[in-house]
Amino acid sequence: MMQVLIGYMGSGKSTVGKVLAKNSAKAFIDFDNYIEEKEGMSIPEIFKNKGEIYFRKKETAHLERLLASNPNAIISLGGGTPCFGNNMETVLKATPDVFYLKLSVEKLVARLKTEKSQRPLIKDIADGDLSEFVRKHLFERNFYYLQSHHIISVEDETPEEIATKIIEKLA
Ligand code: S3P
Repeated sequence: MMQVLIGYMGSGKSTVGKVLAKNSAKAFIDFDNYIEEKEGMSIPEIFKNKGEIYFRKKETAHLERLLASNPNAIISLGGGTPCFGNNMETVLKATPDVFYLKLSVEKLVARLKTEKSQRPLIKDIADGDLSEFVRKHLFERNFYYLQSHHIISVEDETPEEIATKIIEKLA
């Protein structure tokens, strides 16, 4: 069975996904990396050279392929993946195990402040405006994220502890 991790930028999807894959002896696929490989460009380059609309089109197309060809993997999606086109529907149909890693705006902002440069959507937002941006953006995206089968509230747990919480839900 496939498990899919979704959540806002900076929620730890890739880090947790790697631990989860190791602990359950499954393959791990980071969807952003998958897109980068298929497109032969980094995500910041795709946004810069082709624009967000192009990225979202490719994201949807690659998502279908990824899900169809990896029925047994642990997959972490991009923060925006569930929120465009019919992507969330597609994901929910592919597996009964969609997990939303839910963090507070405060925690997300604290992390994202130090990791802005590789994230085209926030790289030009001043630190002082980030909290307002994330609060609004998360409010819009929650409509999609909250359709997940499982919501994992993350506070100060380590990636190992979060992976354990996820495995417990599967049992
Ligand atoms: C995006 C999140 C990114 C990446 C792209 C757009 C978003 O993934 O797909 O920069 O719309 O939230 P991460 O959540 O892995 O940073």
